[in-house]
Amino acid sequence: MYNIAVIPGDGIGQEVVKAAVTILDKLPIDFNYTYAKAGDECKEETGVPLPDETIELAKNSDAVLFGAAGETAADVIVRLRRELNTFVNLRPVKSLQPDKYGNIDFMIVRENTEDLYIGDEEKTPEGAIARKKITKFASERIAKYAFKYAEDTGRKKVTAVHKANVLKLSDGLFKKSFYKIAEQYPNIESNDFYVDATAMYLITNPLDFEVIVTTNLYGDILSDEGAGLVGGLGMIPSANIGDDNGLFEPVHGSAPDIAGQGIANPAATILSACMMLDYLGESQYARKVEEILIEVIQEGSHVTPDLGGNSSTQEMAEYIANKL
Ligand code: NAI
Ligand code: MG
Repeated sequence: MYNIAVIPGDGIGQEVVKAAVTILDKLPIDFNYTYAKAGDECKEETGVPLPDETIELAKNSDAVLFGAAGETAADVIVRLRRELNTFVNLRPVKSLQPDKYGNIDFMIVRENTEDLYIGDEEKTPEGAIARKKITKFASERIAKYAFKYAEDTGRKKVTAVHKANVLKLSDGLFKKSFYKIAEQYPNIESNDFYVDATAMYLITNPLDFEVIVTTNLYGDILSDEGAGLVGGLGMIPSANIGDDNGLFEPVHGSAPDIAGQGIANPAATILSACMMLDYLGESQYARKVEEILIEVIQEGSHVTPDLGGNSSTQEMAEYIANKL
């Protein structure tokens, strides 16, 4: 039996997490779900966006399934990643339906603990200052994770993304750490690009990428761009992984523009649940769910409006569940 902390959060977070649980419930695995609050609604109700009980529950579970937070995202998901010390954020960008490029399939390995996300902002007489933190320890740790990931999954190249020409000390250190670790992996090609050029290459040459390793903020931005390449934010899952914890969440937010309409694409959260299954050692079921999800997306008759259908979030999930 696995103890799963379920934190649906705000807006479509509620809808897509329900859809993913509908599918997990069909598997012959015993899950013990404990639901916990976090987000904007939670803040309105309790005064805090992320109650201590939620943090404790997340720490003491076998895995966490998270939906989305709204305006409190920085105080909720960024804080949870830090509390759980999930130092890597894996964001696979993979087309599940034929795309105009061929077959996009790369992994963004995002450093999850530092950069501007440490939230060290300060007012000054002129405006404000935000500090960006980059350490040798975290940069080498994430580079190691990326090369090991490439090795384990048969990928041949790892690309570091940074802005070391301008941020010479901080991003410079990230780049230097990357090449230091690269020496330990002579069979894997390594290269690096500036983040602005990468933003273009992702559109002009997306098939050139296999594994991207980058700092926290660039990883956040490039993964939404990646989503745009493969059908939108409803398609990209993520895994936050540390030595003792795993938290799984779609890349998207609470989507207030469509929340409450029951039309959010549940694919990203279903795929996040698959990453959770992998983390728990239940990969055979992860592959099965993925296979059926892809089949349903390609069939096109029971999908949400963003995928060209007219099914609701829950209808799409139930259709997938029934095929399991
Ligand atoms: P968003 O990801 O919520 O939405 C961006 C666009 O993508 C919207 O047009 C939305 O309708 C669409 N979209 C997102 N997920 C979708 C899905 N599953 N199916 C179909 N369409 C989908 O980002 P936005 O609008 O920038 O932020 C909205 C709120 O979410 C903000 O309050 C923000 O702070 C929060 N946020 C939270 C995150 C988290 O909890 N991890 C991540 C990103 C944003
Ligand atoms: Mg984001």
